[in-house]
Order: sequence, then C-alpha cells, then structure tokens
Amino acid sequence: MTKKLMMIPGPTPVDQSILNALAKDTVSHLDPEFVKILKETLEDLKTVVMTENGQPFVIPGTGTLGMEVAIVNSLKKGDRLLVISHGFFGDRFVEIAQCYGIEVEVLASEWGKIVEPEEIARKLKEKKFDVITLSHVDTSTGVCAPLKEVGEILKQFPETIFIVDGVCATGGIEERMDDWGIDILFTGNQKAFGVPPGLTNAVFSEKALERRNSLGKISAFYMDVNRWMPVMRNPAGEYFSTHAINMVYALNQGIKLMLAEGLEERFKKYKRFALAFQSGLKELGFNMLAAEEIRANTVSTILYPAGIEDLPFREKLYENGVLVSAGKGVLAGKIFRLGHMGNISENEVVATLSIIEKTLSDINYDFRWGAGTGAAEKVLFAK
Ligand SMILES: Cc1ncc(COP(=O)(O)O)c(C=O)c1O
Repeated sequence: MTKKLMMIPGPTPVDQSILNALAKDTVSHLDPEFVKILKETLEDLKTVVMTENGQPFVIPGTGTLGMEVAIVNSLKKGDRLLVISHGFFGDRFVEIAQCYGIEVEVLASEWGKIVEPEEIARKLKEKKFDVITLSHVDTSTGVCAPLKEVGEILKQFPETIFIVDGVCATGGIEERMDDWGIDILFTGNQKAFGVPPGLTNAVFSEKALERRNSLGKISAFYMDVNRWMPVMRNPAGEYFSTHAINMVYALNQGIKLMLAEGLEERFKKYKRFALAFQSGLKELGFNMLAAEEIRANTVSTILYPAGIEDLPFREKLYENGVLVSAGKGVLAGKIFRLGHMGNISENEVVATLSIIEKTLSDINYDFRWGAGTGAAEKVLFAK
C-alpha cells in the first residue's frame, strides 16, 4: 500500500478541489481576481465563526503565529494574562507570553481533564486580568473546553479580553464568537478546514481592536494587526506584505466546501465519526483518555490496553496504511491520537478501524474480528 490514510489531528487529507485551487496561476496580490477571492474568504470566515462585526485577518503562517498575533495585539510588557491550560498547546501560551515580559498565571488541569468554569470564575474574582486564553480543543489531550460557559462568566469581567485558540476546533465544533463573547478567535487551516498548513486566521471583535489601539506601538511588526488592517479592509488598494496568493485560493475553496455542506451538518458529522471511532475502539479493548462530557469531536486520545506497546503498534499500523499520532509529554507511550476532522467521510472511519484490526492481529493481540468495525458501522449506518 503506498498512499497512507492520514488520520492524525492535522494536517488532514486535502480534497482534490482544494489542491486544484492551490495549483491555479499565481497572480499579483493586487490582481482583481485575487482581491475578490480574499474579500470573499474574509466574509466567509465571519460566517464560520458566527460573527457580525468581527474583523478577520488572514495572515501567512500557522497556528502558532495565530497564538502570538493574539498575544502581542492584546497585551504589553507587565500586563496580566491568565492562561487556562488543558495540555501542551495551553502551555504554549505561557512560553509566548514570557517572551514579551507579560505577567502570566496558569490554571492547569491534569492532562485529560478540564479546569472547571467555577475555578476560572473564582480566579477572575480574586484578581484582575487583562486577558484570558483558552484552547477550545487541546490537541494533546483531546479535551474540549466549555467555551460557552467560560464566555458567560467573562461577561461579568468586561475589561478582560477573551482569546480562544480554535486551531483544532474551528469549523469542526460550534463557535459562536459574538454570542459567547469571544474577543480573539484564531485558527490554523490544516485541521477541520482540510486545507494545507500555511495560513492563520484570526478574527478580532470590536473590543479586541479597541484594546489593540489602546496599546499604541507594540513590539511586533509583521504580527501587528493594525499594519494588516488596511489590506483586510481594502485588498485592492494597499500593500503591507505579499500575501500567500495560492494559499488564499486554497482556503477559499476549503471554506466553500464547508459552507456548501452546512456548518451544523459538519459539526454533527464529526460527532458521529468521533462516536463511531470511540465505540469501535472500546470493543477492541481500548479506553478513551477524556471523559465523555469533555471529549472533542475532532480528535480522540486513546489509551492503550495492557499488552500493546505504543511504538510497535503505530509502526505496524503505518506499514498497514494508517498514520496516527503519538501522545505528547506525560502521555507519550500511553496514548495514541486519532484525528477525525477535515474532508473525510465514513469510508476513512471504517477503513481505519479495519486496518487497526489487521494491525492488532499482526501483533498477536487477542480481539474479535469485526468487533471494531461492526460497532462503528452501527453508529454510522444504523437506521
Ligand atoms: C490547539 C492547537 N493550538 C496551536 C497549534 C499550533 O499550530 P501550528 O502547528 O499550525 O503552528 C496546534 C497545532 O497542532 C494546536 O493543535
């Protein structure tokens, strides 16, 4: 088997129509065709994150750039940041903030659990924070944060900016930017969008833009949203930095696929895929790291049962045709991570489980043939 099924939590498999968009002629960043596509993409992004007046920025870079863009445009040296961390990517905010001399405090959960909203509320009452960050889905642990509830709490603290990392969630799990009081929501495109990595999308609320203006000159040039603003407002008239033309074409097509399918349909589909994988894997003897109520729809974190060694299992699985990801940090060797987002269908779910069964057989693990695929098929296809 040559072409592997890429079932990692990003990048996700790229649909041919997106690859075709990427392969279009490269034109000038002022070409009317590009200007039209960028404008359309920015409008479509607002639809994806459900905002009326939010200002989208599409900037060449990846999810980490989005994190840094959010931080440098909302905090300056000495300002106070509260990081809610549910794993590796939550912790990354701390490292970024420390580069800029920002005072950081962290509320961290045990990996696989969440920080309860009441704990966040207590912390915010105790002390004033200029900004709070929360990863909607921390890809290292597969937990999904209660975004809406945290947004409700933050309505009592209107001077605090709410930053959400949507890299492993946007377009795959509901995110109502306006209704939930999110001020900066950024994403990468290589996950639920199903687009190759290379752009970050950051949407700023009016409050977040006011906050940026209140900072005056900031310690960033390329990441300063005020320098990108004229391009985003009028791509035909302004140059700031050459845009990643073909990547914007790809993103435009990625969002088109998303909106044509319908956001609600897409959210429901990923939920079904998550349930199908989880029930199939349970039948084969695996357990999930995250409790059901906080499990992400976009990625599953799967604990090995006794008798399966991480590396030989993943290597054999890859040889058989499926790529999954290793556990990170304290979870290394204990879990594998399986992505189920982007432009995939039931075919990938069933094929992945079938190849997992073959792999279990190859490593002489005791299981019942068809137990995994059968359980998944019931979730996917039963009337
Ligand atoms: C939740 C989350 N945030 C941030 C990042 C960083 O994104 P990138 O690797 O595109 O820089 C990732 C990457 O997987 C992620 O999953």
